[in-house]
Amino acid sequence: MTDPVFDTAVTRTYGSRLPIVAGGLMWLSDAAYVAAAARAGIMGFITAASFRDPRDLRAEISRARDACGDLPFGVNVSMLPKLVEGETIAETFRLIAGEGVRFVETSGRNPEAFLPMLRDAGIHVLHKVPSVRFAVKAQAVGVDMVSIVGAECGGHPGLDLVGTVVNQALAERRLTIPFLIGGGIGAGSQIVGALAAGASGVVIGTRFLVARELGAHADYKAALVAATERDTMLTMSSVRNTIRTLANDTARAVAGIEREDPDVGIEMLMPHVAGAIGRQAYATGDVSRGMLSAGQSLGLTDRVEPLADIVARLEAEATVALARLRPVPANRREAAE
Ligand SMILES: Cc1cc2nc3c(=O)[nH]c(=O)nc-3n(C[C@H](O)[C@H](O)[C@H](O)COP(=O)(O)O)c2cc1C
Repeated sequence: MTDPVFDTAVTRTYGSRLPIVAGGLMWLSDAAYVAAAARAGIMGFITAASFRDPRDLRAEISRARDACGDLPFGVNVSMLPKLVEGETIAETFRLIAGEGVRFVETSGRNPEAFLPMLRDAGIHVLHKVPSVRFAVKAQAVGVDMVSIVGAECGGHPGLDLVGTVVNQALAERRLTIPFLIGGGIGAGSQIVGALAAGASGVVIGTRFLVARELGAHADYKAALVAATERDTMLTMSSVRNTIRTLANDTARAVAGIEREDPDVGIEMLMPHVAGAIGRQAYATGDVSRGMLSAGQSLGLTDRVEPLADIVARLEAEATVALARLRPVPANRREAAE
């Protein structure tokens, strides 16, 4: 039976068994992945940006709907930090609404401009930010829930680089809407810690990259199993788009260029950081090239296994952590001695 402490605003909103969200993963979180998440009792998000042709996104949503049945899934819409001419975010939201998707995870910039349209379509908005000051803004413009990912996270930790433990304490003080905590979460005890700090759940990316259902080459997953918490790098802060990735030839080259010329500009970095190179690494398993988002919880990715088994281990660890906190009644303590 699921422990009642896991019954939160997150499980009630999504109808998931556990308050765990598998955050969107560029090129990786597809219908098979979110269906595995749903069956494991958690909530998963397909990344819209992985599908350049709207017909492909529509087809993937349809596959997810078939695979999930009554179980929940959503779509991640990652926006660029600034509005750029010709971007198709509004069209993406319209497509999602048209497909009857009920949940979105937004990130990248404030989704305020799209909230009226999303609300009219009955879509619930979980907005992801890298620090509590942005969560306060998101709350003010009316998103339904926020997730705050700390400096440990895979992908974009923002420019402030505030750690997850500080984020959760600040979030408890400054937010009134339900919030999720992420960045480095990869063990059940951390989930209990986040819930104890007032979070309604956690968002996880890196810990799930070694899930069997994730559509990436076996050599890529083997490299993540072998990697430790010390095998990531932060780069791209020169262009105000800090990213934490696996430490590989590409990340080291980018760091070298930024060191030599702190004003280098994105054009010079593009030949290294283009998303297509990373996508290739997921397909071939050659992890030496490409900006491969990964966080410090690589130290906790210990084997490739079905997503449901990773989730079961997180739940078991959380249960052990809860037991540590619950005082043992005196009569049972004496019996154990
Ligand atoms: C490989 C990878 C790709 C990601 N792609 C996206 C993305 O496209 N959009 C997004 O909002 N977040 C993305 N993220 C962030 C995750 O959804 C999640 O917020 C983050 O991984 C949580 O921190 P953790 O990696 O420490 O668990 C990505 C993370 C990883 C590891």
